[in-house]
Order: sequence, then C-alpha cells, then structure tokens
Amino acid sequence: MSGFDDALVAEVRERTSIVAVVSDYVTLRKAGHASFKGLCPFHSEKSPSFHVHEDRQFFYCFGCQTGGDAITFLREINGYSFVEALKHLADRAGIALPEPDRRGGPQRGGGPRAPRVQKETRDAFYEVGKLAQRYFAETLVTMEGSGCRDYLRGRGITKPAIERFGLGFAPDRWDGLLGTLKDDRADLRVAEALGLIVPRDGRDGHYDRFRNRLMFPIRSIAGEVIAFGGRTLSTEKDVAKYVNSPDSPVYQKGDTLFGLYEARQAIRKESVAIVVEGNLDLVRLHQEGIENTIAPMGTALTEAQCRLIHRFAARVVLLYDGDNAGRAAAEKALPLALAEGLHVTVATLPDGEDPDSFIGSRGVDGLREVIANATPGFEHLVIHCVLPRLGARPGKKGAALAAREVAPVLDLIRDPAERALYQRQLGEILGLDELDLVRLLGDGSRRGASVSATPSPPTTPAAPSTPPPPRELKLLMLLLIAPAATSLYVAHDIGELVTHRGVRDAADRWAALQEEDSDADIGSFAASIDDPSLREEVFKNVARVPVIADWAPDFDTITTGLRQDAHQRRLDALNQDLRRALMVGDDALAGELQMEKWRLARQLESLRATRS
Ligand code: UTP
Ligand code: MN
Repeated sequence: MSGFDDALVAEVRERTSIVAVVSDYVTLRKAGHASFKGLCPFHSEKSPSFHVHEDRQFFYCFGCQTGGDAITFLREINGYSFVEALKHLADRAGIALPEPDRRGGPQRGGGPRAPRVQKETRDAFYEVGKLAQRYFAETLVTMEGSGCRDYLRGRGITKPAIERFGLGFAPDRWDGLLGTLKDDRADLRVAEALGLIVPRDGRDGHYDRFRNRLMFPIRSIAGEVIAFGGRTLSTEKDVAKYVNSPDSPVYQKGDTLFGLYEARQAIRKESVAIVVEGNLDLVRLHQEGIENTIAPMGTALTEAQCRLIHRFAARVVLLYDGDNAGRAAAEKALPLALAEGLHVTVATLPDGEDPDSFIGSRGVDGLREVIANATPGFEHLVIHCVLPRLGARPGKKGAALAAREVAPVLDLIRDPAERALYQRQLGEILGLDELDLVRLLGDGSRRGASVSATPSPPTTPAAPSTPPPPRELKLLMLLLIAPAATSLYVAHDIGELVTHRGVRDAADRWAALQEEDSDADIGSFAASIDDPSLREEVFKNVARVPVIADWAPDFDTITTGLRQDAHQRRLDALNQDLRRALMVGDDALAGELQMEKWRLARQLESLRATRS
C-alpha cells in the first residue's frame, strides 16, 4: 500500500524503538517491565494516562483512546502521511529508502507536495539552511547584533522565544553569511537556490541577500530550516520591510505555514489553530502561551495551507490585523477555509491594532477573550463583508444582491448538510424565507441541496457498543498475540461461534491480513478497531497477555468453550420453542424439538468431557 517493498517496511519497523520515537515529543518514565508512561500529547491532562510499550511496539492513551504503532504516532503528532512517517523512521534507523514504486504509490497532491527531489539534494539544502540559521542566531548575540537585540527587547520578545524560534540577525554587510558559507565549504549553488546569496552582476562571486534584518527561520513540519523571512531593522523608507526566501526544491511558500512546526502539538491538543498575519505577532503569541498559532508569511491563505491545517485540527480562528488589509485578507481566506470543511471563525481586533499591540494594551487575557468571541466564518462573511459593501440597501433588493454575492461561496461547501445549514443561516440573516432564497440562488439543484434539505445523519453514528464476552475477547487476544492461530480460526470457521460483532469483525480482518502476509502489527491494527470499548479492551489486554510459545492448547480450550457457548445458546432457544409448542399443543413439533434437545445435550456433555 505504501508503494514500498513490504520487507523494507518490516525492516524499518523492526529497527524502530517506539519509546525512542515517542521520547522526542513526550517525557516518559518507566511504568513497568518494558512499559513507560507520560502526559498524553494528544489531549490535555494532568496525570499521565499515555502508555508506551516497547516490547509490543505500541502506544495507547487511556484518556483519549488514541493508540497505535510508531507510524501512527508520527502521523498523529506531525500530520505525516504514511510515507512521510516511514521515511522519518528509516532516517532514524539509518536505512536508505529507495524512491517508492508508483503502482499504488504515495500520494501526490494530497497535503503539501512531497518533495520530488532526491534525498541527497534535499539533505544538501537542509544542511545549508541549518548553517545559515546557526550563523544568524550566533550573530544576534555578538556586538554586531546589539541593535537587533534592542529591537527585540523593545518589541517585548524574550530570550526563550528567541531561542524557541531560532531567531537571528543578518548583519549590515555584503559578505557576512557568505564568509561563513565559504569557511564551511558549503555548496554556494545551494545557498543561491535558497535565496541566501545573490550572484554579482557580470562579475564572479556572490553577496548576501539578507542584510540588516531580523531573521525568522521557516521550518518544515519535520523541523528542517527550509527558508527565512527577514524583517528590516532600517527605518529608511526605500528599504523593503520584508525580504523572504524564494520557492526552492525544499520550500513552496503556498504549502508552508510559519510556526507550524512549533505549534503543531498545541494545535492538536486544543483542536484549533489560530492564524495571524505577522511573524512577530506569532512569536509574541507563542511567548504568551498561545502556542497554537501559525502565520502564512504575507501570502493570502492558500488551499494547500488550509488542507495542511486540517491535518492537525478541524477548527481555525482567523486573527488578522484590525486594518483594511487584515479585513480583506480574512475575507479572502474564508471561502477557502469553508471549502476545506474547516470550522472557521473570525476574531476581530479594534481598528489599528494587531495581535501583538493588542496584547500590549489589553494583555494576553484580553486577546484570549477576543479569540473566544470570534464570529462564525460564514456569518462574518455575510454580515461584516458582503452587507457593508452593498451599503445601506435594505429590504428585498439589498438582500437579493447579498444572496447572489454569497452564492459562489455556498457552492464551494462540499458537505451538503453543512451547505444546507449555511443556506438556512443566510435566509435568517437576510430576512428571506426559503422560497425567496431558492428563487434567488437557483433551484438548488445547481449545488445539489435546497434550503429545505434536511441534514443527512452523521456517517458513523457512535453506536453504543456492548462489552465483548470474556471468552470471545480471549480468542481475539490469542489471535493477535499468536497470528499463526488465524489459519485454524479460518479453517474451522471459528468466526461462526463468535457473537460479538466487533470481535468477529476484528478477528476476520486480522485473519485476512495474516493471509495476505501483510506486515500489520498489533498496535496499528488495534488502533484501527472501530468499536471504541473493544479497542480499549484490546489495548488494555495486549499489555497483559504474556507471549506464549505454544498457543495450541489455549486455542483449543477457548474454541471448545466457544462451541459449548454456541450449544448452550441453541439449547436455550430450543427450550423456549419447546415450551411454546407444548403450550399451543403442537405435540408433533414438541416431539421433534425434544429429540433435538437430547442430541444437543449429549454433544454438550461430550464437549465438556474433552475439555477437562
Ligand atoms: P506586517 O507588515 O503586518 O508585518 O506584515 P509584521 O511582521 O506584523 O511587522 P510589524 O509588527 O509591523 O513590525 C505581516 C506579514 O506579512 C509578511 C511578513 O511575513 C509579515 O510578518 N510581509 C509583510 C512580507 O512578506 N513582505 C512585506 O513586505 C510585508
Ligand atoms: Mn503586523
């Protein structure tokens, strides 16, 4: 499925220590033999319910029921695709992955574009990015950087935030970074492609592109420095306020979000992302403890960025500057966020304020309040963008104009239930009844839903699940721990004896995986069990059930028990039928049932005998 050879995937898995992988993100302490626990990175908690088991290579949180193997962990925490997670683990283990074959290959176009360039090329770019970042950070703490330090102090940015984001200073020289690159024998062509240095016109040599600037490193989701934003420290009018890195083989502006690497865990934990416009706003918010903040670096929010956000959270708050540019940017971002299916809200700052200045005047609590009071995006679009633009044109005429203007946004919303909801909301805001709206927007067939369409039920109703009978759970656990037993499970139709839907489905699926020779492991399989209470039971027990070399006797005991249970159920049903037959006086039927009952009882007896 990954497009990689199964054996290779298995090797990466084998050479991976899940405890080491998780430890990059969570402080773990030993909780038992080969098991560890810590505070869950996926939800907020005070006492640790997040467990990691080294010998069985899986993690599970009893608090939020997230669980799986190292790959699941990286996908959850970093928003990686399967291939990205695999690459990360392979890198860690020092295994070279070939480019995957394209049969069912890794996805292109979903999420940020996977780098098409060779790994060696990418590594060369990362190397130079790291070098430059280190140079700028080191320069910030030298004599030359004192002006920049003063500037940061004046803007209220403290040392921990400077270090967390790796901020730096590009000195006011033509050969600052260039000198370091040469000293380190760095590949100047790479530095040029990264937009760090510029070739001299008509002469040999290069010069620094970033001069006299506060440097913001832009990191990939894996933490590699892939670009920079440089804010000028000059007060002269003709100097560009920002110089940013150009797109390069490792960086596409529209696919990247400044601060996402630093914010990703907080975004997942709070299940909401806050988007600000300014790099300094972002650093300030993180510093003040609002760590789920990201910034699109001066570009309008793109579709790819919305998709990227959606990998971490379904909710997003636009916290743009309180000026015309900020309002326009929010209006532009809204349709994209809505189309992506994000629950988007808009937080409005007073005129002339940006998040940073607002913290200065009202404190971080004041800002938190603004965020909490954000207006739902669609409502914001109609009330604060479209209607004011149309001016004071009350009554049906104004409403009709507004409805027509909003129609294209409604068309972007893919989920019919959501669309119907917004359409109804639009009617309420504009004071139009459903018929008027349908007339104005067309018959609704254009977008597949009319105002009166009732929202479709949620796709996966959370069916209340019953706990599995102990013996059936035991069977499932044995199959998981001793996958070879699945061949007997299939050969003897043991599934027929299982009454619990969830157990039956899981056991069948697991058995099918073994037949396919798949490399599925217990952790990720268990995480894929739909039934939440069964999933929890499995995780609880996987840690408990000992590894058994000889599983056959246990398998026999369990399956015999299951047969008995099945007989008992039939016997109970027969008894009921028999009583009914006797009651209505159907002697013939009663006789037949009686015979059947004796036969069953005898079978049950012999089953019991084999067992002891
Ligand atoms: P701002 O002009 O609001 O800058 O642009 P700022 O970072 O908030 O700086 P202060 O607070 O005024 O000092 C918002 C963002 O737009 C991008 C930068 O990423 C900036 O952080 N931008 C702005 C550019 O890329 N180029 C520009 O010329 C201006
Ligand atoms: Mn700003």
